[in-house]
Amino acid sequence: MKPIRLAIFASGSGSNAQRLMAYFANHNRISIALVVCNKAGAGVFDHAKKAQIPAVLLQNRSDYESNVVGELLREKSIDFIVLAGFLLKIPDSLIEQFPEKMVNIHPSLLPKFGGKGMYGIHVHRAVLEAGETRSGITIHLVNGHYDEGRVIDQVSCPVLPNDSPETLALRVQQLEHLHFAPAIENYLLHGR
Ligand code: GRF
Repeated sequence: MKPIRLAIFASGSGSNAQRLMAYFANHNRISIALVVCNKAGAGVFDHAKKAQIPAVLLQNRSDYESNVVGELLREKSIDFIVLAGFLLKIPDSLIEQFPEKMVNIHPSLLPKFGGKGMYGIHVHRAVLEAGETRSGITIHLVNGHYDEGRVIDQVSCPVLPNDSPETLALRVQQLEHLHFAPAIENYLLHGR
């Protein structure tokens, strides 16, 4: 059977992308075929190089809004897109090209603390300010609205009384590293 070919879109350090590359390195059904990044020098390029996965820098919003990305994905026979810390808004044209075939990971228990401006440390700061006792991760399909697609997995962790945004971020990141790849695998192979 032909493997399912994934493209990872990332903007930053790419610690999640790195875990995905390791998890799927010798997988018999799923392979990571491409990395797309919008930031020159982002850490994700180093991870892609080590894993020998082609990585492409597309810096301009127009690359995503025109068919530049769409064509590239077709050329590379990409079946599925994983957003792993990708900070540009995905245009509708790309969502239409990959209906129900694009997932994102968000560092909170959506629908709480999602939406525009809610990324990185801003999320954890908002969680603490709201006095939440639990936070966590949400892995969801991508539709035309920020952080609103169908949830495929959600895992929680406690918020501790002495947490700073940074200590909470670390605890949430551990969940991401543990659960993102298996959730994608489950969705792709078992539809959930
Ligand atoms: C993660 O916290 C993810 O939830 C969010 O962006 C961050 C990416 O981190 N969407 P990294 O680049 O994978 O380390």
